[in-house]
Amino acid sequence: MDGNGRWAKERGLSRSEGHRAGAEAVRRTVEACTDVGIEVLTLYAFSSENWKRPKAEVEALMRLLERFLTDKLDEICERNVRFQAIGQLDKLPKRCQEALHRAIAKTAENTGLTLVLALSYGGREEIVDATKSIVRHVAEGHLDPAMINTEVFAAHLYTRYYPDPDLLVRTSGELRLSNFLLWQVSYAEIFVTKKLWPDFGRDVLDEAIEEFSRRERRFGDVSPP
Ligand code: IPE
Ligand code: MG
Repeated sequence: MDGNGRWAKERGLSRSEGHRAGAEAVRRTVEACTDVGIEVLTLYAFSSENWKRPKAEVEALMRLLERFLTDKLDEICERNVRFQAIGQLDKLPKRCQEALHRAIAKTAENTGLTLVLALSYGGREEIVDATKSIVRHVAEGHLDPAMINTEVFAAHLYTRYYPDPDLLVRTSGELRLSNFLLWQVSYAEIFVTKKLWPDFGRDVLDEAIEEFSRRERRFGDVSPP
């Protein structure tokens, strides 16, 4: 969800106001995804690297997250959305962790869209954490190293409960992955839009899905005759 800062700058607003507009785009996008029938939506809300930002901005983002999880919870619940989160969640402020766990618990039985928030998330960190988990299983005698393959490895990632993404949407025109789901996006179709995240909504989502539906996915195979 990139471009909140640029969106604010274009309007002479503060970066925090850009993030607030970004939260509104989250609400719109979640609504659009539930209408379209998307099964899993993972939003890159805060990266491992975002901790480097000025303290005031990090605090503003954390407050916004906490408020989003509390104020929007009923609306999200009504839409049958199931909240989940991935990342090094223990690094988040306690209040955010509590709000997150409340949201996850309250929506656990919902059967619609699974909304995964990537928080304090980094793809490399996730791969390292998976490796540590595998090493622990081997050391405790629960896993034979000869059995380790891509499926076993994936079962130790934070995303073990979710399918790999089919479509990766990148906003603000940047052509990079920025440490997002590095393992999981191996065969994802990539859609890049110049739109800044606060301007994201149903129209761009439709455009992304439309383009996705025209792509031929071969997964390394050849086209059928
Ligand atoms: C939002 O956009 C990303 C978050 C960490 C929430 P940015 O804050 O990176 O916006 P730009 O890149 O400065 O425009
Ligand atoms: Mg950015």
